[in-house]
Amino acid sequence: MAEAIKTRALIFDAFGTLFDVRSIEAACESLFPGKSIELSRVWRSKQLEYSWLRSLMGRYADFESITADALRYSCRSMGLSLSDSNATALVPQFRRLAPFAEVPVALRALSGYKRAVLTNGSPAMIDALVANAGLSDQFDALISVDELRIFKPSQVVYELATRKLGVVASEVGFVSSNFWDIAGATAFGFRTFWVNRAGAMEDELGLHPHRVISGLDQLAQALK
Ligand code: LAC
Repeated sequence: MAEAIKTRALIFDAFGTLFDVRSIEAACESLFPGKSIELSRVWRSKQLEYSWLRSLMGRYADFESITADALRYSCRSMGLSLSDSNATALVPQFRRLAPFAEVPVALRALSGYKRAVLTNGSPAMIDALVANAGLSDQFDALISVDELRIFKPSQVVYELATRKLGVVASEVGFVSSNFWDIAGATAFGFRTFWVNRAGAMEDELGLHPHRVISGLDQLAQALK
């Protein structure tokens, strides 16, 4: 019987997986009272859309600048007037997101694995997020798509992570809350763990995670 392939490395998505993008809502609420839930929803969805559109067009711009573009679009679409100083205050919130409550302890319990973050975020964003959360000693690598100038779920991005970590795809456990990212990573050949905290539905892409967990605290058990 073939020996089971050993998972040697864990690769984590950043936004929405390790870090809670809903912390953006509070900053939006202070500037646009009563509008924060809708604004942060439209903002996040446009931010992702722009990442995929720019990848398809070969017109890369880093994630922080498309985050600013998405904010301008979202305010315009909702009839909210966005001053330059408000834009300057809101965009950097993406560097200061709080980690989900279970994340620090869960990461420490996984120290037997090589661990990395693989993110569409720019190097400056991911470096700041991890440092602000006091998690710098938890990762062997913080990998941004920036050097490839294309965003996940492009398959070349997942390949970059295997090269950086010196592993093959089948040795990687890939962890994300974003189904589109899980689909991309599954297509690439990673063993995937979908962190479905909010009970979201799978997309119809013909790709399924290997395991579904409701928080990072379940990952150690799911890896057994
Ligand atoms: C990431 C986001 C986009 O790549 O989820 O970290």
